[in-house]
Amino acid sequence: MADIRNIVVLTGAGISAESGVPTFRGPDGLWEGHRVEDVATPQAYARDPDLVLDFYDQRRAKLHTVEPNPAHDALGRLDAEWPGELLIVTQNVDDLHERGGAKRLLHMHGELKSGWCLACGDRRPFEGKMAERPTCPACGARGHIRPDIVWFGEMPYQMERIEAALSTCDLFVSIGTSGAVYPAAGFVQSARQFGAQTLEMNLDPSEGSFFFHESRMGKAGELVPEWVEGLLSG
Ligand code: OAD
Repeated sequence: MADIRNIVVLTGAGISAESGVPTFRGPDGLWEGHRVEDVATPQAYARDPDLVLDFYDQRRAKLHTVEPNPAHDALGRLDAEWPGELLIVTQNVDDLHERGGAKRLLHMHGELKSGWCLACGDRRPFEGKMAERPTCPACGARGHIRPDIVWFGEMPYQMERIEAALSTCDLFVSIGTSGAVYPAAGFVQSARQFGAQTLEMNLDPSEGSFFFHESRMGKAGELVPEWVEGLLSG
């Protein structure tokens, strides 16, 4: 690992599972109780805004009941201590990475605690209930704030910055993601194409497991602190 300087870490719902945030797929997954098309598409929002806003209001409220786990904390430590480049790209819309101390962080699928006013385009931190149709602090319009979340059919955020980081990283690490959703699922192939080493840490093999040089199977709360400790101690 002596020649590792630039690192890109991709995280998915599995890293927050031990904090009590449900994953999307699999038993008890979020999508088990809902059809994706009913709550996570622009069409769903146009058809039944109350259902969609309430779904995200409930998830935002739940953030107050969960805490970062040792995997989030370990990435916060890595961020504080790693002397080279680091970019943590999360598909998660929770705020557990921030609360675990991560700063070199990007939410490619948006954030529960951000609101986007469709009347004026303003995006800013949001707490409370969008289903109550709050007024936009920027333009004063009422009832136009939607979750600042990337829905199916919409473009993930900051793809140029992510692609630039992938093209110059020496190590790409994927944690707790099923590899079912593109473009994130394709990051391992991009990183490999540019010569990076690739490591996956997941409870079970992801859909793209065979693309990784190394796969470690187990709980993020155990694997990630071990990996960070090993990396920082050289
Ligand atoms: P998924 O629910 O698809 O996958 C979660 C992965 O985490 C699975 O492969 C689990 O095996 C693994 N896992 C579960 N518990 C774990 C643990 N304690 N430690 C390590 N791994 C664990 O979630 P994502 O891959 O994040 O997009 O889903 C990707 C995107 O699909 C989400 O960002 C969301 C969703 O639809 C949007 O909403 C746009």
